[in-house]
Amino acid sequence: MGTVLSLPSLLSERVALVAGVDPELRPATRPQFGHYQTNVALRLANAEGRPPRDVAADLVAKIALDDLCEPLEIAGPGFINLRIRAEVLAQVANEVLGDSRSGISLATQPRTVVVDYSSPNVAKQMHVGHLRSTIIGDCFTRVLRAQGHTVIPQNHIGDWGRQFGMLVEEILDEGLDASTLDLAGAEALYQRANTHLKESEEFADRARERVVKLQAGDAETRRIWQQLIDVSLAGFNATYQRMNVLLTDADLAGESIYNADLPVVAADLEDRGIAVIDDGALVVFTEKSDTPAIIRNAAGGYGYTCTDLAAIRHRVGTLHADRLIYVVGTPQEFHFTQVFAVARTAGYLPDAVSAEFVGFGQVLGADGKKFSTREGTAVTLNSLLDAAEEEAAPSIALAAIKYADLSSGLQKDYSFDAERMVATTGDTGPYLQYAHARVNQILRKAEAEDISYRQITVLAEPAEHQVALLLSRFGEIVGTVGETLQPHRLCGYLYELATALSVFYEQCPVLKSEGEVRSSRLALCAATKKVLATGLDLLGIEAPERM
Ligand code: ARG
Repeated sequence: MGTVLSLPSLLSERVALVAGVDPELRPATRPQFGHYQTNVALRLANAEGRPPRDVAADLVAKIALDDLCEPLEIAGPGFINLRIRAEVLAQVANEVLGDSRSGISLATQPRTVVVDYSSPNVAKQMHVGHLRSTIIGDCFTRVLRAQGHTVIPQNHIGDWGRQFGMLVEEILDEGLDASTLDLAGAEALYQRANTHLKESEEFADRARERVVKLQAGDAETRRIWQQLIDVSLAGFNATYQRMNVLLTDADLAGESIYNADLPVVAADLEDRGIAVIDDGALVVFTEKSDTPAIIRNAAGGYGYTCTDLAAIRHRVGTLHADRLIYVVGTPQEFHFTQVFAVARTAGYLPDAVSAEFVGFGQVLGADGKKFSTREGTAVTLNSLLDAAEEEAAPSIALAAIKYADLSSGLQKDYSFDAERMVATTGDTGPYLQYAHARVNQILRKAEAEDISYRQITVLAEPAEHQVALLLSRFGEIVGTVGETLQPHRLCGYLYELATALSVFYEQCPVLKSEGEVRSSRLALCAATKKVLATGLDLLGIEAPERM
């Protein structure tokens, strides 16, 4: 028999060959229904006007699965149940064990994917929204890279805009050396500048003039602006390091890099009649809304929308991306809907390039209410990490946060309940870490006792079958996450695997068994450890050897 590494698709293909349609195999809901079920006979019977069980019997007679499955069974009104043969389960588990990618298949059509994530703002601390964006984007980067896609992270930091006028002016007024600030200090400065702006007309005028100087490239202004960026980046990088994410300075592509492109985009859109002057502003009307996209405001300034259009041109035209992913909070969904629409009309975003907005919900307090500090201000990312670290060691606290962030549908809000999130029981990150550490401990003991194991040879117990069956699904799950951008599917899978593993321990002694059964079980443990470790790594979670 050839490789069975992609067992689920192999089964589907065989059934489809006879049925003529995708059988939509589903994991069986109960052990007595085998491993997979399909309702394809019911669907075909409906179309053909024949009794479903007859259609099922015809299919079962023709489907060639003897090498992979036990004889197919027809259940209830005409479901077909598939039970994979034990030796095939053993083979697939062995293949996963021996595969350098743990069964993750390489994309047949590798794409160049730009993932826009994290993207905090200069002179402001990262808040919970940036926490989610960073964790989710990091997971996408890992998953897509594992599938062989070229991933280009783009950290679209807010390093340009009118706010720099007041920031620089405030620094000069106070005689501050901006290079001595830290991020918290820069944020405090931001508050003072804001207050100053509201209180003094004269300061507001100077701030406006300062924006003009910044845009004109005035040396002193640029120098201070750069200092603000540098202190902010130092703060962001410290947080990235703490979060153990892949982002580096090489991924920085802040708003300011598009400066020179903004008038070019505006002129292009205006020349081609895509943008029109409306109340003094240059705007594009789209089908998406009555509110047009503002390319240039009446005062002549270019804003967030124009910058994102320039970024799309860069990502498609220069970086040659054919898939754009934006991981940004749900409140910005409309902005991106509009930006994508304008970019499509203008041809910056050809049909062959997909653009996906991946929004995410809010992080709420443990009480399910809006999360804010006692003073009522937004919660900083670092204070969240601190709160989790009060409950557990840093690597466990981080696993807890990342898993909580990724394990339910991204669009949902979730409650930041540190105590629950760090628990090593239940559907948590630390539980998966613990499962990994525990299986590692068994393997370590075997090693210490000089018990060797290589292959899974005997697979007799249902609990062993279940573990092997799950191992065979890993590659498919990772593929689905890369396509649908739904990390909760991987989380759910890993939780199921960890649970199956603990059932296996209960029902099948490993070190206390003997001979071939023992070495086979140890090999099954090794394959499971490998998938747990790979899976956790795709979530950006460390898989500890001990816990
Ligand atoms: N800096 C923005 C914020 O903090 C997020 C930027 C998202 N990315 C983009 N291409 N607009 O809200």
